[in-house]
Amino acid sequence: MQNEESDYDDSHINFLETLWGEGFLSPGGSNEVDLIIGEVDLNHKKILDFGCGCGGAILHIAEKYSVSELMGVDIEESVIKRATELAAKKSFEQLVKFKLIERGQLPFVENSFDAVFSKDALIHVPDKKRIFAQIFRVLKPGGHLIAGDWMTWDKGYRTPVMQDYLNAEGLDFHMSSLSAYNHDLNEVGFESICLQDRQEWYLSKATKELNSLKNELNKEIVRILGYEEAQRQITVWEKMIVVLKSGEHRPGHFSATKPVFV
Ligand SMILES: C[S@@+](CC[C@H](N)C(=O)[O-])C[C@H]1O[C@@H](n2cnc3c(N)ncnc32)[C@H](O)[C@@H]1O
Repeated sequence: MQNEESDYDDSHINFLETLWGEGFLSPGGSNEVDLIIGEVDLNHKKILDFGCGCGGAILHIAEKYSVSELMGVDIEESVIKRATELAAKKSFEQLVKFKLIERGQLPFVENSFDAVFSKDALIHVPDKKRIFAQIFRVLKPGGHLIAGDWMTWDKGYRTPVMQDYLNAEGLDFHMSSLSAYNHDLNEVGFESICLQDRQEWYLSKATKELNSLKNELNKEIVRILGYEEAQRQITVWEKMIVVLKSGEHRPGHFSATKPVFV
């Protein structure tokens, strides 16, 4: 664990799992994971989940796809502990391993993985090209990067409303855009890059989430977070919906392939 304040302490994890499902610190659950994977064949493949959180996505992959090995990495001890416990509960402790890593490091030799999966973790990484270069290094030739992330628009500026939302979130967010990701992936040497915008989907989902935070989930989130923090989270969702509507906050998916001959 690094000597920095944790973005994901136990009560925040419990809050997010109440909203997004066991093991998930990001919206959409297994459906979004399947959409990110798309047509990429994971059968008998060795997969790395970058920023695996509490393991919801990687354990869904373990359940649904006939992979050979799964490795989840994260910089937060709290989430690695939860992911390890969930893997044991689901009897996947042999197939799925977890590793606490240092920020910005992927401690694996080159050409280690057939695919690197990541969901809503790259937002926390300031230097995208540097992490893409690390992912490129650990991927085997012909291997795939398949990812979802929270992004911003391509207009190249940030409005005060967006800044207000980011301040309210208070998390370590560094939002890129689909076209900036396209550029960075190209620069690093990836090919066959595919981009998919998910803003409309998340606008609709986040609106329902806000409604449940105010209604059916309200008692539970007040129990988990306390009244004031629960109210603060409702305000965060209200501010987020404003920027989802304007299109300045726009989640998306992308995939890219390491060339067979580098
Ligand atoms: C929004 S959560 C998503 C977790 C998980 N992928 C999911 O979809 O449930 C982001 C995760 O990225 C992790 N993270 C942040 N910065 C990271 C870094 N530099 N390297 C690896 N993981 C990181 C956080 O600790 C957190 O667990």
